[in-house]
Amino acid sequence: MTYQTIEVRKVTPRIGAEIFGVDLSRELSNRQFDEIRTAFLENQVIFFRDQTLSIEQQKAFGRRFGPLHKVPNPRRPVNGDPEVIAIFADENSKAVSGDIWHSDTTSDPNPPLGSMLYMLEVPEHGGGDTMFASMYHAYETLSDSMKSFLEGLTAIHDGARVYVGKGRPAPATPLPQTEHPVIRVHRETGRKVLFVNKLFTSHIVQLSPNESEGVLEMLYRHAASPEFQCRFKWQVGSVGMWDNRCAHHYAVWDYFPQRRFGHRITISDA
Ligand code: SIN
Repeated sequence: MTYQTIEVRKVTPRIGAEIFGVDLSRELSNRQFDEIRTAFLENQVIFFRDQTLSIEQQKAFGRRFGPLHKVPNPRRPVNGDPEVIAIFADENSKAVSGDIWHSDTTSDPNPPLGSMLYMLEVPEHGGGDTMFASMYHAYETLSDSMKSFLEGLTAIHDGARVYVGKGRPAPATPLPQTEHPVIRVHRETGRKVLFVNKLFTSHIVQLSPNESEGVLEMLYRHAASPEFQCRFKWQVGSVGMWDNRCAHHYAVWDYFPQRRFGHRITISDA
């Protein structure tokens, strides 16, 4: 793809790209937005530097991709807005969001298109990177025998594994629980992805508990291969947006007791 209105520099050949020449606080032209969307679909996670965004500007950019999603029972909604959650840690934190390989809210019947994090504070002495892993490549590098074995299997993704406790209020409505194919097809690219993650997936339906645990452990080890990953070092004003349908992410909590703070929105897969 040749880009006319933005500059796209890949972070690795398989996943991740930095985008230059865009001010996200302004209304983007259709051409500029289409190119950003293409870069997003091609690279699975895109990054921007040196942005200054109000919550409304971040939400407006997010809405260009689709309607915003409300996280079930969020721990830290910003100003009570369920569409914006604070990603926050400091010297009092006992836990952080996302320090395990996962994709977001896969317990939903239609899991989100993606999430967008705008970083407002970074740890003073470094750390706090986010890692991303390509589930296209995780799928494509399985052996043919394993691909055939997994085709047709389904797994349960359970919101109760994630959205209960850890400082959250008691959930007001039942938490979602959904059965998804283990190998899922990305709605827009048509490519196959490995679609299980350690945070939400409880078990593979067609296997015994022992078999399911063993197969999932093997798949998680495979999915976390460094060869499918990129790693982003945040600065104040960085924006990262990941395609939740084909990328896993892992927020590295190596900076305790320092502070890290950002605003995250999530976009529905309409
Ligand atoms: C998350 O959304 O899982 C957290 C991402 C991060 O803190 O980098």
